[in-house]
Amino acid sequence: MTTLAILTAAGSGSRLGRDLPKALVELDGFPLVLHAARRLAASGVVDSIVVTAPDGLVAVMADLMADDPHVQVPVEVTDGGPTRQASVSAGLALAGPGDDVVLVHDAARPLVPPDLVRRVVGAVRGGHGAVVPGLPVTDTVKQVRPDGDAELVTGTPDRSMLRAVQTPQGFARDLLVRAHRTGAARAQAEHLAATDDAGLVEVLGEPVHIVPGDAAAFKITTERDLWLASLVLQETNA
Ligand code: C5P
Repeated sequence: MTTLAILTAAGSGSRLGRDLPKALVELDGFPLVLHAARRLAASGVVDSIVVTAPDGLVAVMADLMADDPHVQVPVEVTDGGPTRQASVSAGLALAGPGDDVVLVHDAARPLVPPDLVRRVVGAVRGGHGAVVPGLPVTDTVKQVRPDGDAELVTGTPDRSMLRAVQTPQGFARDLLVRAHRTGAARAQAEHLAATDDAGLVEVLGEPVHIVPGDAAAFKITTERDLWLASLVLQETNA
């Protein structure tokens, strides 16, 4: 029984304002996708990785992975899809017969601690079908709807009951396959927002559990995030 990690790296990352896909933007001299792959491999609980690559960049990413001495698990690179969900489905199609646990991790979270990867896999192997790392929310969050040229607040959820979720998200493989088939179709038909893989599991009515996340697994979206990540790396290398 083995664990496959799908590393989604097919996004354009337009909010970073670079002329190359976000996963190939460098942090401390190495592309984000490579940092993420190294950390997945370093966890010791990931047996293989499938990377979803942007259009025309399968060979570039495959070379990157093959040449790196720190990525010591087999890596396959495949074309991603037009949406993150389509990219995950493309990666899932390459799962081997023995892969009973599947992780989905975003290359946009390059500094994921190997410990967090172990925590997620441990919880799935411990019997939970869907496991998501989450952090308490420190801001007060408002629910809104459009109202003319502004927005009207319609509610204030109790923030002690909210979690900001990260990746890797971990799943029993059969459940993730069902979520991407039936859950995704149902979400689309019923206009349900399912912005992550766990959301598709929720649409099926199946339980999703949270394990403690880690601030270091933050997502790189803007230039400022990249700068923060370089500071975090400096601190951990010091
Ligand atoms: O755009 P965002 O940062 O939310 O994307 C999250 C992750 O999903 C990124 O690692 C990105 O490369 C990946 N992605 C993908 N295929 C897409 C869109 C995004 O693999 N079509």
